[in-house]
Amino acid sequence: MSSDTSLLDDVARRAAAYLTRARVRVVAPPAATVDAASRGLGGPLPAAPSDAREVVELLDRFAAPATVVNVAGRFYGFVNGGSLPASTAAAWLAAAWDQNAALRVMSPAAAVLEDVVLEWVRDLFGLPAETGGALVTGATMANFTGLAAARHALLERAGWDVENDGLFGAPPITVVVGDEVHVSLVKALGLVGFGRRRVQRVPVDEQGRMRADALPPLDNRTILCVQAGNVNTGAFDPARELSARAHDAGAWVHVDGAFGLWAVCSPRSRHLVEGFADADSWATDAHKWPNVAYDSGLALVRDAEALRGAMSTASAYFVPGEQREPSQYTPEMSRRARGVELWAALRSLGRTGLAELVDRTCDHAKAFADGLRAMGAEILNDVVINQVLASFGPPELTRAVIARIQQDGVCWCGGTEWQGRTAMRVSVSSWATTAEDVAMSLASMRRAVEECRSSVR
Ligand SMILES: Cc1ncc(COP(=O)(O)O)c(C=O)c1O
Repeated sequence: MSSDTSLLDDVARRAAAYLTRARVRVVAPPAATVDAASRGLGGPLPAAPSDAREVVELLDRFAAPATVVNVAGRFYGFVNGGSLPASTAAAWLAAAWDQNAALRVMSPAAAVLEDVVLEWVRDLFGLPAETGGALVTGATMANFTGLAAARHALLERAGWDVENDGLFGAPPITVVVGDEVHVSLVKALGLVGFGRRRVQRVPVDEQGRMRADALPPLDNRTILCVQAGNVNTGAFDPARELSARAHDAGAWVHVDGAFGLWAVCSPRSRHLVEGFADADSWATDAHKWPNVAYDSGLALVRDAEALRGAMSTASAYFVPGEQREPSQYTPEMSRRARGVELWAALRSLGRTGLAELVDRTCDHAKAFADGLRAMGAEILNDVVINQVLASFGPPELTRAVIARIQQDGVCWCGGTEWQGRTAMRVSVSSWATTAEDVAMSLASMRRAVEECRSSVR
């Protein structure tokens, strides 16, 4: 079967049209559009094959309008990056290559790209060259991977082979987290067998930073999980002090730095990341602040052998070579070559591009905070990076404003509860957000506040 390149040309035209329209379309699709997608794409599996052109046409007709516009700079929900042009284009190439990145022999290109991006990221984060790394789907799996390496190292020290003998009967491990730990880290603790509830929670301050003065006693069978960038406030734990205390006791320090670790790229915000390089393992996302196409995360482990010990397998049909074999460091075996988009994004930005991306999004966040204050909102956090938390007064008013903004469709913000207060979250994480987007979004927010104030009163 020869490949039909005109199909790819057709896809390029459709994708370009999508990206153009994304700038003017409502950010979240109306319910009727989503219903139409269910009807148009659903039904029984066809008995016979369909033409590839027809398949693509159906996707473009029904799925594209039911997407959330994540690529146009006015989606401020969660912590979603947009995909940089180089990253989107690289993802297309990677799809054409269809590489399995498990082993070097299956994809030398994927293995080389992983080597390169791991070197770049270690360098950006100020980590030693020997630090081990894995490219995974996102921070949740990166947290899982770092914790599995920690589990391997601490139990190996205690004379226990956890990969072969499991956790039943193993020497107990204590896990210490801040009270504002991200829910994905708690999930990862459950997956790795430590239990979601079996953790010691340390009180935090009003920004969600772990209080070093409230740290419980630590020992050499403790994992202390610190956070670089709280999902709500953007705040950073005092890593230098916490790491020093943990290491004095022989404990392992794991960092959840899903987006915050990238603050290191900017001379303006680098001070926030001070001390995080002292840790033993790090989890971060590339699909957040660095704007790599979904999905893309990184786990890094100072002791590469601990990571390899937790993840490697042996089989007669697989003889590892001298160089790094990707799947010896990852939870998965077969996996897509996600280093392609990651390499492309970092290569296209370079150091100054990364710094500008961080600074620009932080400036936009400050402009949002000022604009929201001017319309009477209370900003609940110190806007240290790209996250803003706004309260419009009573919880029902804040919730009504969020719903009205979402319905208006100019931009999209989600809600949260922050230390007993109902708040709107504004996360400026996309490269595509412009000052004009901020102004348009603030105008929509102002309309929503005025309408809701008069009806909720
Ligand atoms: C601090 C933190 N950790 C972990 C995660 C989970 O990231 P992902 O959804 O990419 O797995 C997030 C997501 O926002 C986060 O903010």
